[in-house]
Amino acid sequence: MMDRVYFWVVFMAFFLLLSVTSAETVQVREALVQFMEKLAPGNNPGDENWGWNISSDPCIDAWKGISCDISMQFVKKIVLDQLNFTGVLDAASVCSAKNLAVLSLSNNNVSGMLTYDISNCTRLTHLYLHGNNFSGNLPGSLSRLSNLKRLVVSDNRFSGGIPDISRVSGLLTFLAQNNQFDGVIPKFEFSNLEEFNVSNNNLSGSIPDVEGRFNASSFLGNPGLCGKPLPNTCPPPVAEKKGSSSKMYLIYLGYVLIGLILVSLIALKVIRKNKRKEKKEIAKKGLQTDATKDKIISSTSSESKRGGNISEYSITSVESGMGSSSLVVLSSPVVNGLKFEDLLRSPAELIGRGRHGSLYKVTLNSGVTLAVKRIRDWDISRDDFKKRVHIIDQVKHPNVMPIIAYYCSSQEQLVVYEFQQNGSLFRLLHGSENGHLFDWGSRLSVTARIAEALAFMHEGLQGDGIAHGNLKSSNILLNNGMEPCISEYGLSVVNNQDSSFLAPNDSFQENTSSPVNNMSNAFKADVYGLGILLLELLTGKLVQNNGFDLGLWVNSAIREEWTVEVFDKTLIAEGASEERMVNLLQIALKCINSSPEERPSMREVSVIINSIKEYEEKSLSSEA
Ligand SMILES: *[C@@H]1O[C@H](CO)[C@@H](O)[C@H](O)[C@H]1NC(C)=O
Ligand SMILES: *[C@@H]1O[C@H](CO)[C@@H](O)[C@H](O)[C@H]1NC(C)=O
Ligand SMILES: *[C@@H]1O[C@H](CO)[C@@H](O)[C@H](O)[C@H]1NC(C)=O
Ligand SMILES: *[C@@H]1O[C@H](CO)[C@@H](O)[C@H](O)[C@H]1NC(C)=O
Ligand SMILES: *[C@@H]1O[C@H](CO)[C@@H](O)[C@H](O)[C@H]1NC(C)=O
Ligand SMILES: *[C@@H]1O[C@H](CO)[C@@H](O)[C@H](O)[C@H]1NC(C)=O
Ligand SMILES: *[C@@H]1O[C@H](CO)[C@@H](O)[C@H](O)[C@H]1NC(C)=O
Ligand SMILES: *[C@@H]1O[C@H](CO)[C@@H](O)[C@H](O)[C@H]1NC(C)=O
Repeated sequence: MMDRVYFWVVFMAFFLLLSVTSAETVQVREALVQFMEKLAPGNNPGDENWGWNISSDPCIDAWKGISCDISMQFVKKIVLDQLNFTGVLDAASVCSAKNLAVLSLSNNNVSGMLTYDISNCTRLTHLYLHGNNFSGNLPGSLSRLSNLKRLVVSDNRFSGGIPDISRVSGLLTFLAQNNQFDGVIPKFEFSNLEEFNVSNNNLSGSIPDVEGRFNASSFLGNPGLCGKPLPNTCPPPVAEKKGSSSKMYLIYLGYVLIGLILVSLIALKVIRKNKRKEKKEIAKKGLQTDATKDKIISSTSSESKRGGNISEYSITSVESGMGSSSLVVLSSPVVNGLKFEDLLRSPAELIGRGRHGSLYKVTLNSGVTLAVKRIRDWDISRDDFKKRVHIIDQVKHPNVMPIIAYYCSSQEQLVVYEFQQNGSLFRLLHGSENGHLFDWGSRLSVTARIAEALAFMHEGLQGDGIAHGNLKSSNILLNNGMEPCISEYGLSVVNNQDSSFLAPNDSFQENTSSPVNNMSNAFKADVYGLGILLLELLTGKLVQNNGFDLGLWVNSAIREEWTVEVFDKTLIAEGASEERMVNLLQIALKCINSSPEERPSMREVSVIINSIKEYEEKSLSSEA
């Protein structure tokens, strides 16, 4: 308890200290006040909390429309929509707030030009200027805003050509309808764009290939535009008429070739499929007849490329005396009276293989599906293994998968869980949907659940020194209610030879004299694992090399002050709170501190993640 209080005091003091020692400088304040004077000349609303004066601080005194980072140091957002401003945008002044990420002035009556200086807002991600009275060209310097995600300039009087901003690779939105732009549509990375509209301008020429992502309604009202997706085709270019018949001939020949290739590919696939089916049938038969003797599951599938390959247990007879009695069923309503033979007789499908063993999906005759983890190369005696499983079974948390049954011989161990249909966190993040369905709110609540469950397990198993040992997104499964369930708790032992679940600097060699230290390091290795999991959820990036690379990358991005760049594109796109993403990022970085002693305990992590989650929920309910 004292520990916790102490931690909070340090945590809060840290932020207070930051906010006292440095805030936006006087120059920045002056520039912001000037920006406001030009935006709303002689129009200081009679709101006493308006701020925007030189004698107060934009963050601490919460000037109207301004949001800052959590340390209350830097202005990050300026949102001044629908306030009847009639002045001009002084880009040079507002860009002296170097950390500005969001500038929104929509639906005012701002006139004048958007000047070249806007490129000095290098961190800008969102620029909303729609519904004003801007005129003149869009500056080409927009292409230097490499962090830009959303650019909305619709419903103004902008004119001239649209600049080429295809260099801004992360751009998701370009809305410029209802202006007076002319010239041709420049290059865009249409495959990345989510929103695009240039309707009701005076654009001309042929529309570039929009890769099927946008329809005519993005281009209407431009008399000079032609080509797909508009109904009017472009007139053929005059110079290319010569030799067009031979060109057409080549094109047709191309089609014929492609057709031939397709046909042969399909034929090949059909043949392969049939072959595989035969194989499977043979394998199943073999399994059923052999399984009457005492068996042990041994070497597995022939192929295990990504994807759900069906494969077979191959069964080999081993020493007798290890019959069905070796399968110990812990209390479980799902598989009353499960026998080892039942497992062997049932069709099994290899669903995963890693350094520490393989995972099978087994469907019993009764229709119940089980996940069977087969552990490889674990130097543990039968008694120690039994003891360990029973200890783990004593500590139950709803977000940790209970072990249904286990089997151990001198060579290997099997652990049986209920099979979860909804896959893993890994699949949710990196599967075909690519994290699109996994929004910020869900990610936050999933991590809060996981951290809470791990803290509970750590406390319950502290004395026995049993940590999870192999925390990663593929070990977090989703149950029927899409609640996270931590699988394989305690089935990996971290020892001197195998430091795969530690940061590269964690080494036990020096500590062999002190088993207590080893134990607490095992828990700190879980904290590291959770830190990497948090980074995976925040960045949407794949974890390799135990997350060491990901940690390095995030750390270097932060050193270069590209914090916004590290976050998952889909999170930015949905408008997730950057402040809370940064909060979570900071916890993650503490968790992956290269020295284990510096890492917080799982309980401390859980408390902080929960407070971020509560904060998120509060802010949502106040917005609604
Ligand atoms: C400046 O803004 C602060 C914060 O809104 C306000 O409390 C203060 O009265 C203002 N000062 C002046 C001189 O307007
Ligand atoms: C803006 O002007 C409209 C019409 O004059 C008025 O109804 C509205 O209250 C004004 N909004 C603000 C924020 O001053
Ligand atoms: C823009 O930023 C550069 C480099 O930080 C600086 O030299 C320049 O004066 C700035 N321009 C304006 C108009 O503030
Ligand atoms: C916008 O400002 C101009 C003067 O600058 C004024 O004539 C016009 O009525 C204003 N429009 C709106 C919608 O407030
Ligand atoms: C835009 O500005 C022009 C001239 O500055 C003015 O005549 C016009 O009324 C303004 N339009 C709107 C919608 O305020
Ligand atoms: C549109 O562009 C054409 C030239 O491409 C020009 O002749 C015409 O005047 C423009 N129309 C408007 C309304 O600006
Ligand atoms: C065009 O796309 C928009 C959204 O991108 C959609 O709302 C609209 O229905 C589509 N129109 C047609 C004709 O397909
Ligand atoms: C594009 O803008 C026009 C004009 O505001 C609108 O009618 C159309 O629905 C928009 N199309 C899309 C796809 O947003």
